[in-house]
Amino acid sequence: MDFSNHKVLIIGASSGIGKATAISLSQKGASLVLVSRNEENLKEVVAQCTGQGHDYIVIDVKNGKDLEEAISSNVRNTGIPFSGFVYSAGQEGTIPLKFIKEDFLEDILKTNTVPAVLVSKVLIKKGNFSKEGGSFVFISSVMGRLGQPAKVAYCMSKGGLIAASKALALELASKKIRVNCISPGMVLTEMSSKILDSVGDENADKIRQMHPLGIGEVKDVVNGIEFLLSDNSKWITGIDLLIDGGYSAQ
Ligand SMILES: NC(=O)c1ccc[n+]([C@@H]2O[C@H](COP(=O)([O-])OP(=O)(O)OC[C@H]3O[C@@H](n4cnc5c(N)ncnc54)[C@H](OP(=O)(O)O)[C@@H]3O)[C@@H](O)[C@H]2O)c1
Repeated sequence: MDFSNHKVLIIGASSGIGKATAISLSQKGASLVLVSRNEENLKEVVAQCTGQGHDYIVIDVKNGKDLEEAISSNVRNTGIPFSGFVYSAGQEGTIPLKFIKEDFLEDILKTNTVPAVLVSKVLIKKGNFSKEGGSFVFISSVMGRLGQPAKVAYCMSKGGLIAASKALALELASKKIRVNCISPGMVLTEMSSKILDSVGDENADKIRQMHPLGIGEVKDVVNGIEFLLSDNSKWITGIDLLIDGGYSAQ
């Protein structure tokens, strides 16, 4: 795949799936704008990217207004519109219903769901996105489709992302912007390592066994992201691509 002449915004690019996507897309010629809260990590990712001219924005996605302004100002300053958008920022949360507080529910939506929609809104503003159209890819989770005890907040936020992507796919089709989700099962990243470390050996083994093909690698998800960003998927919009090692087939 060739991503020369593509400018891709990756939110949640400082680690895990977002970081691996950035490095891989840069090797295929893309120019990148990377977003997260951690400047040091973003600098490190830029250093690992191939090619010149990659940029980064240090911001907490919960600050919607600042995020919108930062994206618009990147286009104003460079004069180059985006043609791809990957939303990979996410926060995990395992809290049984009886301990759930309203603040926590709002907080997880403000990280996992709401910014994907607000950024989509900014990107369709005049001049911010390629006139030829392009592709948005939101990273949801199998938990957006399937339930799990003590995961109500996370499941709600990821299910919301899938629903939002379908509504946006219909609304933006006339602009030739495709909007799709990817729902991974567990792939080894900082986020999933923390989960495996915290649940104890027995539960970690159970989680592994729930994936018939074993725990995934970030590359398994990156391949799907690149497919959905590329013209190879030019007739695909509004889908949720499960990349889960068979987790949801059971
Ligand atoms: N790993 C898995 O097994 C798995 C499975 C299913 C779905 N997913 C989903 O895939 C996505 C990526 O997961 P991952 O495993 O790559 O996680 P990760 O390694 O923890 O990376 C999460 C990214 O999101 C950024 N982020 C989190 N909160 C943010 C905030 N408030 N503002 C700005 N950036 C923020 C983090 O950057 P900073 O901390 O630097 O801000 C980081 O770049 C997530 O949405 C996750 O829910 C992961």
